[in-house]
Amino acid sequence: MLLLPELFSNEEVAYLKEAMTPLKKADSPELVWEKNTQTLRALHGCHLRSPVFRRLVRQKRLLEPSRQMLNDEGYVYQFKINLKQPFNGELWPWHQDFIFWHKKDGMPLPNALNAVLFLDDCTEFNGSMWFIPNSHHEGLLEPMVKKETGEGWKNDVGVDLTYQLDEPTIARLVEKWGIAAPKGKSGTVLFFHPNLVHASLPNISPLGRSLLIVTYNSAQNIPVPKEQQRPWFLVNPDTTPEVCTEEPLLLTLAV
Ligand code: SIN
Ligand code: MN
Repeated sequence: MLLLPELFSNEEVAYLKEAMTPLKKADSPELVWEKNTQTLRALHGCHLRSPVFRRLVRQKRLLEPSRQMLNDEGYVYQFKINLKQPFNGELWPWHQDFIFWHKKDGMPLPNALNAVLFLDDCTEFNGSMWFIPNSHHEGLLEPMVKKETGEGWKNDVGVDLTYQLDEPTIARLVEKWGIAAPKGKSGTVLFFHPNLVHASLPNISPLGRSLLIVTYNSAQNIPVPKEQQRPWFLVNPDTTPEVCTEEPLLLTLAV
C-alpha cells in the first residue's frame, strides 16, 4: 500500500468531478445504483466514454508508479468511480479484488494494481476504506460464496458481493496485522495490491466520499476469457499497454 498525498490539485479534482456529470445519465448500463434504487453508487468504464478520463489514466503520475510496482507495462483493466454518497452510500463487505478477476474473468495472476484517487477528502466520518495491512502476503483466501441474484456482474459491485471473507478469517488477519484506515485530502492517490483485504462502512455523514479507482494490469497477465464474459465496462477488452501522455489533464476549450 502506498499513499501519495495530494498528487492532483484541487482544480484538477474539480475538473474530474465536472467531467462525471454527462456520464451520469439514468439509462446507462454501466451505472450502479444503491439498493434504494435512487442513489447512484458507481460509474464504470469512464475512460472509454470520456476524453478527460482517458487522459487521466495516461498521466505519468499514475502510470509511472504503476509501471514500477507491476514491474511491467500496464493497461487499464477496470475503471470505476465509487460515489459513496452522503447519508445513503452503502458499505463494501470484506473482500479481496483478485478473486473476482481470477474466477470471473480468467486473470492468471494477481499482477495488477489499484490506483485510488480521492475525489473528496477521506476522513473517519464518510465511509473511507479499511485495509488489513500485509494481508496480500496470505495469497488468495478461501471466500464465502454468496448466491448470485439477477444479472451476475451486479453481484460484483453491490453490497452483497459474491466473494466475501468470513468472520473467523477477518478476526485472524486483524489479530495478526491490525486495520489501517488511510485518510487524506482530495487529490491524494493510494495504490494497493489486488490481494490486500479491504472493506468500507456506509456513509451516514452529510459529506460525499467519491473514489476513482483505476486498475492497471500487467501486459503479461492478460485474462484467458471464460465462457461467460463480464461486460466491457468491468473488463476492458482493449489490452494495449498505456503510454504516458504529454497532455496535461486540464485542457480548456479554445475560444
Ligand atoms: C469502496 O469504494 O469503499 C470500496 C471499493 C472496493 O472495494 O474496490
Ligand atoms: Mn475491492
